[in-house]
Amino acid sequence: MDFNFTEEQLMIRDAARDLAQRELILDVLERDEHSIFPEKHVKRLAELGFLGMMVDPKWDGGGMDTVSYVLAMEEISKVDASVAVIMSVSNSLVMWGIEEFGNDAQKEKYLKPLAKGEILGAFLLSEPEAGSDATSQRTTAKEDGDFYVLNGTKNWISNANCASVYVVMAQTHPEKKHKGINVFIVEKNSPGIALGPHENKMGMRSSDTHSVMFTDVRVPKENRIGEDGFGFTFAMKTLDGGRIGIASQALGIASGAFELAVKYAKERKAFGTEIIHHQAIAFKLAEMAVKIENARNLCLKAAWLKDQHKPYGLASAMAKQYTADIAMEVTTEAVQIHGGYGYVKEYHVERLMREAKLTQIYEGTSEVQKIVISRSLF
Ligand code: CAA
Repeated sequence: MDFNFTEEQLMIRDAARDLAQRELILDVLERDEHSIFPEKHVKRLAELGFLGMMVDPKWDGGGMDTVSYVLAMEEISKVDASVAVIMSVSNSLVMWGIEEFGNDAQKEKYLKPLAKGEILGAFLLSEPEAGSDATSQRTTAKEDGDFYVLNGTKNWISNANCASVYVVMAQTHPEKKHKGINVFIVEKNSPGIALGPHENKMGMRSSDTHSVMFTDVRVPKENRIGEDGFGFTFAMKTLDGGRIGIASQALGIASGAFELAVKYAKERKAFGTEIIHHQAIAFKLAEMAVKIENARNLCLKAAWLKDQHKPYGLASAMAKQYTADIAMEVTTEAVQIHGGYGYVKEYHVERLMREAKLTQIYEGTSEVQKIVISRSLF
């Protein structure tokens, strides 16, 4: 395996780093405090080609590889994981699924504007009573002539308000259980769609999360992706890739907190010297560095396997579980190293710790990843 990055991959990483360190940093605290959606930053993501970065240029995307995506996600998440999740959901959960399984008409109509960053997408799988247990979909999609009629509620939907296009899983043939689930492209402005209030979250507070209610929403049959009953397989395959995005988000949160902790430990003096010279602090930093390096290798390996068109579901589950869990550990230690300063907002590490928590929950909890990993053993 070659551990060198290509010139193009390094350019993409540097562009993401510039965006994060020069622009996102300026208002990240205010947006976190007041849950403000990062409208102008999303426009910049589009201008720089980060929305739709992996889509084939034939469909107006950037044609970049998954390794580049991991590098960009890490840099953006170091500073602002809320912006990173907007980018990740649209790229990996929405565009990848449409590009891989949609037909040409669907790609022309929906993938092209998504890839250009003109519109955003959201992925609607979770429900009030179907989170980890994703086969238990209660949202229904009943056939009616040339349409499906959708009824039900989806929960915890990232990008619910800012997206124009939803990818929605719903049950058409309950007697067939998960094999009766379908997946549809639904326009958000369709009559019968209503949003719940903006969720007042612990972290990722400037990303927009709502529940979405469907009441007799008519979706043309041509908006179904794949064969009848393909919806659950679609969701699982799409999440295999989505988890690489969230793993690299968690990696960025961990490495962002680590960099701040090193900087602080080099500046802060106690007992006559900079605290980095105290073994209690130096060993904490050493352990954090090893965890981050392991996590980065797992993320890059999953991305590399995907780019090589080799199976990557197991690698992405390992990357997501490990990286999310160490992000929680690393950010907690970063707060500890900062002492009282770590507990106040200006030093950023408490925000990174709140953001890390969500990476252990969404796009499959750490426990779900362990189900996937352990099942590969039997
Ligand atoms: N690829 C293809 N097919 C897959 C698959 C994969 N990765 N994983 C499972 N399947 C198939 C299985 O082969 C099986 O097919 P057959 O019936 O034909 O044999 C079928 O799907 C059912 O699989 P399981 O029996 O393994 O299903 P299960 O009920 O035991 O659940 C699970 C498995 C891994 C726990 C799954 O339900 C799961 O991933 N749950 C978590 C869902 C999740 O990640 N939700 C996050 C929501 S999205 C989000 O957070 C977005 C956001 O806004 C940020």
